[in-house]
Amino acid sequence: MSSLFGRKSDRGDAMNYEELYRRSIHDRDGFWGEQAKRIDWHRPFDTVCDYSEPPFARWFAGGQTNLCHNAVDRHVAARPDQPALIHVSTETGKEEILTYAQLHVEVQRMAAILQSLGVRKGDRVLIYMPMISEAVVAMLATVRLGAIHSVVFGGFASHSLASRIEDATPKVVVSADAGSRGGKVVPYKPLLDEALQLSAHKVERVLMVNRGLAEATMLSPRDVDYAEARAAHMDAQVPCEWVDSTHPSYTLYTSGTTGKPKGVQRDTGGYAVALAASMEQIYCGKPGETFLCTSDIGWVVGHSYIVYGPLISGMATIVYEGLPIRPDAAIWWSMVEKYRVSVMFSAPTAIRVLKKQDPECLKRHDLSSLKHLFLAGEPLDEPTARWIADAIGKPIIDNYWQTETGWPILSVARGVQPDQPTRFGSPGVPMLGYNVKLLNDLTGEDLTEPNQKGVLTIEGPLPPGCLQTVWGDDARFVKTYWSTFKRQVYNTFDWGIRDADGFYFILGRTDDVINVAGHRLGTREIEEAISSHAGVAEVAVVGVADSLKGQVAHAFVVVRDPARVASDADRQALEKDVMHTVDSQLGAVARPARVHFVNALPKTRSGKLLRRAMLAVCEGRDTGDLTTLEDPTALQHIKDVVQRGN
Ligand code: PRX
Repeated sequence: MSSLFGRKSDRGDAMNYEELYRRSIHDRDGFWGEQAKRIDWHRPFDTVCDYSEPPFARWFAGGQTNLCHNAVDRHVAARPDQPALIHVSTETGKEEILTYAQLHVEVQRMAAILQSLGVRKGDRVLIYMPMISEAVVAMLATVRLGAIHSVVFGGFASHSLASRIEDATPKVVVSADAGSRGGKVVPYKPLLDEALQLSAHKVERVLMVNRGLAEATMLSPRDVDYAEARAAHMDAQVPCEWVDSTHPSYTLYTSGTTGKPKGVQRDTGGYAVALAASMEQIYCGKPGETFLCTSDIGWVVGHSYIVYGPLISGMATIVYEGLPIRPDAAIWWSMVEKYRVSVMFSAPTAIRVLKKQDPECLKRHDLSSLKHLFLAGEPLDEPTARWIADAIGKPIIDNYWQTETGWPILSVARGVQPDQPTRFGSPGVPMLGYNVKLLNDLTGEDLTEPNQKGVLTIEGPLPPGCLQTVWGDDARFVKTYWSTFKRQVYNTFDWGIRDADGFYFILGRTDDVINVAGHRLGTREIEEAISSHAGVAEVAVVGVADSLKGQVAHAFVVVRDPARVASDADRQALEKDVMHTVDSQLGAVARPARVHFVNALPKTRSGKLLRRAMLAVCEGRDTGDLTTLEDPTALQHIKDVVQRGN
């Protein structure tokens, strides 16, 4: 444990989570002032947290630093030949390792190219790329220049991309000819060209990484070939631009209750400190080790734990392009063995995918280097957690957070207290600096007794690393996140419950709550009950409008064995059985009105269930934007099932 945690309590024993947590809340500035030593500062800060204009928090005000310096340059002297970025593509068969020294060189080349295209401090660079090294290099080069990146997930199509271009108004877009998924080339350039056409904001230059996967029409002089530009900047030396701690490092768009995506804006110094702290306190990653995060750079998990977190802490990070089950379900575990991965981070949905594959795949590789498997992004149901825990024999650690927060709100801090217990079904307890409160949704009162359901909120100031504001729209930041209750408090829009031991349980989004005959129900609770049924592999529940009861729950179930739903009689029997399971676990009030058996649930490529689309199908409405859908046939199948009525 680092010297920061070599601290002793008053009793003289090593600090445990609770003591440190209390300190992070009650001696906020003392605690974070100490954490700030984890990163390099060009100029020291004057104030740890300037909260003179709530809810806007200015962390480490007066200080100057640079994210790229902390992720790359800082490590070049100490670990020049250590791998920094390991790119593995099972799509193209390529594997490439960049050491810290090599990454430093590549980032400067990219920074020089961006400069030559006119990028200066404060300009936006939009990155629309597949999972290749150049994407990470582009992110690092952007923040090196004090510019602001906005990565748009490669699975978004032209409309979503255009709206983000309009909002971010980038000077340059960095893109690629194509990605590849399941062996199928996915061209990017035509979608980008269309988006650039659609957008009212006109982008001056487009930097294209041509991978030779798809024909990309280059429009001169707007489009620039990366390989050619790189060749002209081989010896580039571009120093880091020192920026204020509060200078934005990036924006990342995320959807909320309205159709217009919000640009979550992150600062520089606070983010670097928060990630550095989380890497040790939560993820237990050490310099020289390897981190495997299976997310995508287009999502917040990718920003924090493919790119910045591991690199800031001097680890090697794996950038993986490919499916979790191709060539087979052993692919992740083969990377764990080959690169001696010590920390792995994935999503429950991916584990559920693996669950349906050959169990032998999990046993084929030496996983001795792996310390923990972290899962986040959606509720981790107990059966899945138990299954993967048994299968790999490692601690499974849930962590709950949001695009807005940038790092975990709830988890366990095994880097602080190695024996801190976890509880199945719970993502854990508040992480350091998060003053989490459960509020009564109607009265806004603090729920202090155990096992009461409330809205999970966070008292301001949010800890470092969380969103500063909504890009270009301070009013929206205040209105969306801080104005639900009379008292100004950050709303996560999640329902939560805290048990008598302080463990939190997430019951789903407040904006997805269903109300059946006056009873408020979490679709999540019903799902948990149904998934405990031995025949069920996956389930999603939505609240469908009902003229009698307001809403009723419909469950969509993927069965483990399709033979169980082969005939109408089979389906009816299993439907009854599933309903009975809900009756017995939650009570008849939570029983779904219908259980539909389907062959897959509609999900985005990042694994989020598209509940709203399912709901729209049930209610005969338009399904809205489906560009991130993993498998469009899943939704069509549901339509057929719903229309057939079974
Ligand atoms: O509803 C919560 C759910 O995902 C939302 C945030 O999603 P996103 O902005 O994509 O950020 C994901 C970062 C990991 C939350 O409001 N969620 C996230 N993690 C969990 C979760 N729900 C339950 N358990 C989790 N561990």
